[in-house]
Amino acid sequence: MKILVTGGLGFIGTNFIHYWLETHPTDQITNLDKVTYAANPTNFDDYVDNHNYKFVKGDINDVALLDQILPGIDLIVHFAAETHVDRSIDDPMAFVKTNVLGTYTLLNSAKKHGNIRFHHISTDEVFGSIPLGSTAQFSETSPYDPSSPYSATKASSDHFVRAFGKTFGLPITISNCSNNYGPYANPEKLVPRMITNLIDGQKIPVYGQGANFRDWLYVTDHCRAIDTIISHGIIGETYCIGGLKETSRNIDLVKKVIKLMGKSEDVIEYVADRPAHDNYAVNWDKISTDLGWKPLETLESGLKKTIDWYVSHESWWRDSKAEAEAFYIKLNNYKNLNK
Ligand SMILES: NC(=O)c1ccc[n+]([C@@H]2O[C@H](COP(=O)([O-])OP(=O)(O)OC[C@H]3O[C@@H](n4cnc5c(N)ncnc54)[C@H](O)[C@@H]3O)[C@@H](O)[C@H]2O)c1
Repeated sequence: MKILVTGGLGFIGTNFIHYWLETHPTDQITNLDKVTYAANPTNFDDYVDNHNYKFVKGDINDVALLDQILPGIDLIVHFAAETHVDRSIDDPMAFVKTNVLGTYTLLNSAKKHGNIRFHHISTDEVFGSIPLGSTAQFSETSPYDPSSPYSATKASSDHFVRAFGKTFGLPITISNCSNNYGPYANPEKLVPRMITNLIDGQKIPVYGQGANFRDWLYVTDHCRAIDTIISHGIIGETYCIGGLKETSRNIDLVKKVIKLMGKSEDVIEYVADRPAHDNYAVNWDKISTDLGWKPLETLESGLKKTIDWYVSHESWWRDSKAEAEAFYIKLNNYKNLNK
């Protein structure tokens, strides 16, 4: 099979390509990535001699480039997006361009080149927020209610994907996944920022009182879920993907990481909360019952693997950590200016 992966130099796309070429070694992958701040081109340094992997630097909005790449492609797995909620508060337009217009452009090109099978990677954040103290969970039937510019653009992209399925018969599937953690995540995201701060002996900033909760999934479990949907999912369907129902308050997650790294809780520093800070929990009964998928990693086993990876890959994250911390300083200055 010939696959186009978009955004394959980012966190989940990188893990997905590694996973896919290990489990389907005769398939061929083209990785189309614009190489934004979130990309790391060294992620495939070991693949220079792998004839089943090809990298193309470019934008999913570039129709002429898509016209060159798409002939012969059997499947598109669409990860490319602007993904950081805090950045979407700082600069929403970048999110509209890639997540909405880019997804539309890719769908249109998939339709033009023979209705190529299209799997869209989305997020549980499109469903909005679960009230603190509630045991409710998002599922495939939850109404869309996005809170941030990031989740609003992802919601819009989901609607376009579904509309191309219904209107033009494009063979689509969608997955809405909870928060991922694991190797290759940019150190501006919560888990790698915590780990790298602890390695550097720095404080760990926690939004508000850390009471917001998330549903965490180890990234390889997400990649296996996508594989399951591509191989066995029903065209036109949406599947929610989540962790082992160990929904964790941010503060509990922070304390778990601190403990696993043998540090003291004195490093926790509470900072002003993010606007419209959501809570998420996902019901993944459908993919489990219909397709037989379930996560293999517990939060503890996945965090241990993630910590080990960051400890042994400092050269991978050092430069992007400096950029991430500069971004957070800019964000705080921006907030102060707008008080
Ligand atoms: N990270 C999570 O916890 C999570 C959870 C659920 C769903 N998702 C979804 O999974 C996908 C991947 O997330 P991630 O965390 O790996 O993101 P990421 O920010 O780490 O990577 C995104 C990649 O997309 C590329 N990109 C951005 N704009 C592009 C464009 N216009 N054209 C081509 N490439 C472009 C970037 O260069 C980068 O390599 C996203 O669609 C996101 O919404 C992420």
